[in-house]
Amino acid sequence: MTARAVRGQSAASAPPGDAAHAVDRAISGRYANRFFLDRQVRREEVHAILDVARFAPSGANIQPWKVYVLAGAAKDDISADILRAHASAAGAHAAEYAYYAAELPEPFRGRRAKFGAAYYSSLGIDQADQAARLRQTAKNYGFFGAPIGLILCIDRRLEIGSWLDFGTFLQSIMIAAKARGLDTCPQETLAKYHAVLRKHLPIAPQEIVVCGMSLGFADPAAATTRGVQEKLRVEEFAGFFGFATADTRAPPKFHPER
Ligand SMILES: Cc1cc2nc3c(=O)[nH]c(=O)nc-3n(C[C@H](O)[C@H](O)[C@H](O)COP(=O)(O)O)c2cc1C
Repeated sequence: MTARAVRGQSAASAPPGDAAHAVDRAISGRYANRFFLDRQVRREEVHAILDVARFAPSGANIQPWKVYVLAGAAKDDISADILRAHASAAGAHAAEYAYYAAELPEPFRGRRAKFGAAYYSSLGIDQADQAARLRQTAKNYGFFGAPIGLILCIDRRLEIGSWLDFGTFLQSIMIAAKARGLDTCPQETLAKYHAVLRKHLPIAPQEIVVCGMSLGFADPAAATTRGVQEKLRVEEFAGFFGFATADTRAPPKFHPER
């Protein structure tokens, strides 16, 4: 089964017209978009998206998120500064937290390799071509041409549970955007350039840059080259216990890659 079929199938699991159908479509239709049209997004639209995302759940309702919304010259100046840093001294910059485990174990390592193969081949980049890969990474810092860039921060005194809360907020932004015909790309790589971001934005010393996010209208011309990422089937990550029907009592096939 192709990834496209998986997406289509889950999007159609609720009948059209049903509220669940719209939600399913927004969730399963979301993808990391890296090609944006040169078309503005109004401040009110971004505000409306955040106004929905603020209902994301968080433990004890502490709402650990902080967002810097960038557009126009503010965004362009930051992009230019980061691109300069990336070109001249990329090694001198590092995120204040580790996004990936240093030694990614299986099955995650294999999934990351699959991601890389799909991602670079869709862009026509040879994975061995380091220069081309760096050029592609640099596109993150121009927010892939999106009119809006978000910089998302968390207080460094908070624990891992609050980072969990943060994910619910990130996804809420992306789904609220998708439901409005807008696309997004979350970007941990922007955390690397927090020192540059701090020069431009009033990011408090106790704040850590978690990630950035591009937001705007997807370029439909890039739809076929966007590198669809395959998703696991439910049976590959969930076990069902205590249900009446025989098939749902079957043990789950965890880690089918092994
Ligand atoms: C928190 C987070 C950070 C990410 N950071 C980046 C990034 O820095 N650059 C990028 O191009 N994609 C980034 N991605 C996008 C992932 O690569 C993408 O979500 C994943 O490959 C699955 O593809 P899909 O979102 O199209 O389904 C990030 C995703 C998440 C959730």
